[in-house]
Amino acid sequence: MGDFFQSVEQLKGELENELEIQLAQANTAGEIELVRVKFLGRKSPLIQHLKQLAEFPPDQRAPAGKELNILKTAIEHRLVEKKQQVLTRPQGPPLDVTLPGSAVVQGRLHPVTQTIHTILSALLPLGFEIVEGPETEFEYYNFDALNIPRDHPSRESFDTFFLDQPSPDSKKGRLLLRSHTSPVQVRVMERRKPPLRIVVPGKVYRPDPLDPSHSFMFHQVEGLMVDERTSFADLKGVLERFVRTLFGEGTRTRFRPHYFPFTEPSAEVDIACATCQGAGCSTCGRKGWLEIMGCGMVHPNVFKAVGYEVRRVQGFAFGMGVERIAMLKHGITDIRLFFENDLRFLEQF
Ligand code: DAH
Repeated sequence: MGDFFQSVEQLKGELENELEIQLAQANTAGEIELVRVKFLGRKSPLIQHLKQLAEFPPDQRAPAGKELNILKTAIEHRLVEKKQQVLTRPQGPPLDVTLPGSAVVQGRLHPVTQTIHTILSALLPLGFEIVEGPETEFEYYNFDALNIPRDHPSRESFDTFFLDQPSPDSKKGRLLLRSHTSPVQVRVMERRKPPLRIVVPGKVYRPDPLDPSHSFMFHQVEGLMVDERTSFADLKGVLERFVRTLFGEGTRTRFRPHYFPFTEPSAEVDIACATCQGAGCSTCGRKGWLEIMGCGMVHPNVFKAVGYEVRRVQGFAFGMGVERIAMLKHGITDIRLFFENDLRFLEQF
């Protein structure tokens, strides 16, 4: 019966060869399982040999059994190894690291949003806090509380989209799309006591026909500071600092008297034209100066409307058009470019 040991030796050689051949063709966990059944299953030659062991005397059983168990462990080991190889292998064709990569298209903020961010970041260090208000507004906040009476001609300069919807509060007048961000001044002062320093970015609407400098929707940033003592000098200090942060330290400003119903005195702020430095050119319409915002000391009637004691508070306000500032900063000559969503334009920012 020394033959049995020999037959085990032979089996070992055959199985090891055959295992490699079959594993080389097994590419999935399922195929590997089939190979396992063939080599280690109940009917496999190896297990059959193990079963026959009992029929041999102990002196033969021991060496043959040892051999068979070593073989069994080696096969198990190879199967596990191959399975891991298959499971961790990347799917699909092998990776060609020399192929050019596919570019990731990165989005960005719209130039108007970028400009709003620039404006706000210039004002936040001066202690202003960001506040927003509704785009659908009552006549009262858009006009009356801002000292723009019903039949006052200045009301026409803020030509307005009125809504058909009935007003939920008839005392506050009709509903409209706000024509400026100034109503948010009133809303905030109604709710809060001074000291106040707020900036209000947002959309505003006016029924203007589209042309290179008009759009029925555009953006403004409003500012308001109220305290016990706030002077025109504070107004100039804040706005000059703001303008230099925005347009460069060397920028010259000019405060030109103007009229706004909600401020008194009022002014428009001009900056010296960067193209001609004040000499007059086509950019500034030969004026040498470019208007960038309106401002003034808050009118006592506005304080009265919000219930402030006129003698105890002083404040200044300012308002600017975002698109206008973006156009000046980037040399853009048509406001419609901001709203046409033409990527050839937008991708430049
Ligand atoms: N609301 C004005 C407009 O839309 C801009 C403005 C001017 C706002 C003077 C102000 C201000 O706060 O003081 O034309």
